[in-house]
Amino acid sequence: MKKIFSIVLAALTMFVFTACGSSAEKPVEKAASQVDEPADKILVAYFSCTGRTKKAALEVAEMLKADTFEIVPAQAYTPDDLNYQVENCRANVEQKDSAARPEIKSRIENPARYKAIVIAFPIWWGAEPRIIDTFVESYDLTGKTIVPVCTSGGSDIMTADKNLQSLCKGADLRIGKRLDILSKDEIKAWLDSLKL
Ligand SMILES: Cc1cc2nc3c(=O)[nH]c(=O)nc-3n(C[C@H](O)[C@H](O)[C@H](O)COP(=O)(O)O)c2cc1C
Repeated sequence: MKKIFSIVLAALTMFVFTACGSSAEKPVEKAASQVDEPADKILVAYFSCTGRTKKAALEVAEMLKADTFEIVPAQAYTPDDLNYQVENCRANVEQKDSAARPEIKSRIENPARYKAIVIAFPIWWGAEPRIIDTFVESYDLTGKTIVPVCTSGGSDIMTADKNLQSLCKGADLRIGKRLDILSKDEIKAWLDSLKL
């Protein structure tokens, strides 16, 4: 009797272990954030202190039916920070230092979803504000199309285009445009020509 009991107990133990083993081998379901989504969307990311770039960026987003993301500085720029006539105002100090990387408040929620990112910014001292450098360095842009656009008081986007070349490694970086001198029709025609 004792022997029969031992055999039954051993069989039961084997069954329990086998059952546990098989369930552990089942493929683990992916969490929602891990699901591989196709990179088929366009994002318009913009930085704007006095609203001109924001307005242009939102128009572009509407034309492209794109998502938008505001590049918000962790430390907001005050009017004093932006007063470029004062030699050592914050914006001037940052622009003089090519290594300056002002912190951004938040990140794009799901960067993998985007095949193309339009990056909109004002021209500061002839170039992109350093926070744009922070932005492009915060993501792996490999394989993505990057389109710089700007507004300015008169300067073109060429220096920013050149600076971004070395910062957007592996991306398909397009030649940018200054938007505030173009009509809506001109902007639309240019965006269409990019075939994003
Ligand atoms: C610190 C600073 C530097 C600027 N430097 C230039 C410049 O070099 N060339 C230019 O044309 N405009 C310059 N501007 C003007 C802005 O590019 C322009 O007003 C822009 O449209 C502002 O965009 P926003 O309203 O989105 O901030 C500068 C503005 C600031 C605050």
